[in-house]
Amino acid sequence: MKNLVILISGGGSNMEAIVRTAQQRDWAGRLHARVAAVLSNRPDCAGLARAQALGVPTAAIDHRAFAQAADPRAAFDAALADAIDRHAPDLVVLAGFMRILTPGFVRRYAGLLVNIHPSLLPAFPGLHTHRRAIEAGCRVAGATVHRVTEELDHGPILDQVVVPVLPGDDEATLSARVLTQEHRMYPRAIERLLAAG
Ligand code: GAR
Repeated sequence: MKNLVILISGGGSNMEAIVRTAQQRDWAGRLHARVAAVLSNRPDCAGLARAQALGVPTAAIDHRAFAQAADPRAAFDAALADAIDRHAPDLVVLAGFMRILTPGFVRRYAGLLVNIHPSLLPAFPGLHTHRRAIEAGCRVAGATVHRVTEELDHGPILDQVVVPVLPGDDEATLSARVLTQEHRMYPRAIERLLAAG
């Protein structure tokens, strides 16, 4: 069985979708992997409690604890890598993990890092994707699963889902519509990647 480690910073709804698909009884449609651990840079994030309720081991590596280090970002990434390596993952899955990773970290996990981003990349890398899509007058929005490279939100695309932008949409309604589709796309994209590799 392949091992996943999932990194989160927030609510963890994508993480939950992945865990539930991996815990599914039906062979068909299941994600054939084990979520070995859920790690977060925010000890108080709701997603950690959610993972524990699903029976998944968790750990928090608080990025604020490294503020005094000579290179805070590198020191945090080194601690994160230690926590990841304990589980010898076949894939490291970023699911709402809101930290920019150092090039050294990305190189260390070359080929193992995937991310989900709430836009149709290469449009709207970065933050506030739904607000920017509405302001630009986009008729469609969506989300992208991609490999992580050293350039933020720029890795090779593994899957995308397209969602309409409806008249009257605001950031909240659009992000809710996209998020529902993220939950369907991400476990399937991971399954395909594991099956191919
Ligand atoms: C998701 O919409 C995900 O695509 C986005 O954060 C949300 C996390 O929600 N990720 C990014 O913006 C990464 N740049 P969740 O914690 O409920 O899964």
